Amino acid sequence: MDSKGTKSNNVTWFNGYITRGDREEVHGHKGAAIWFTGLSASGKSTIAHLVEKELHRRGCSTYVLDGDNVRHGLCSNLTFSSEDRGENIRRISEMVKLFVDAGIIVLTAFISPYRKDRQKVRSLFSEGKFLEIHVDCPSEVCATRDQKGIYEKAKAGIVKEFTGISAPYEPPEGPDLVIHSYKESAAEAAKRVITLIEQYKIV
Ligand code: ADX
Repeated sequence: MDSKGTKSNNVTWFNGYITRGDREEVHGHKGAAIWFTGLSASGKSTIAHLVEKELHRRGCSTYVLDGDNVRHGLCSNLTFSSEDRGENIRRISEMVKLFVDAGIIVLTAFISPYRKDRQKVRSLFSEGKFLEIHVDCPSEVCATRDQKGIYEKAKAGIVKEFTGISAPYEPPEGPDLVIHSYKESAAEAAKRVITLIEQYKIV
């Protein structure tokens, strides 16, 4: 194993003939990662999908990656321990890097509660290719919106290590945008995200 934890030997990175810039030219916009972080039921996924809808309307190539979905496949062998959440975010960040290299605007909706894990993700991207958006909402409000009944189970101790109840959430220190989803509608929030994307000249 090398210092990065790579276990495979004799592997060489191969660059193809087409660059990310070439692909971006075909798409007519830049590839970028729009990373939403926040508690379960804070509104990450709802806002990400609204932003995707507007970008799609404008002819952009987009994709939304969502916590519950990714944990059905790529990350189905991971728990919610801090180590496994780190591995969840690491795998996702590598996948997101490939999406961005493909020239796609990828929107992610993972709790991603640990600052160090999110900092590692940011370090994979150059300036303006990774925008961190904190969807801020008190856990009491999230609990009232929760359609899965998971907050009740967490309070009863049935679901363990639940973020905001029995596991920590470390808010970003320098996010690119903060959304107060307890006092701002999802539609308003989505508009602000679109404005941010425009400011960074991604579209
Ligand atoms: S993360 O912490 O590793 O980023 P992720 O976003 O993939 O979490 O998954 C969160 C989703 O898993 C939540 O929306 C919730 O439905 C479900 N879940 C199940 N158990 C937990 C738990 N202990 N803590 C947080 N979310 C949980």
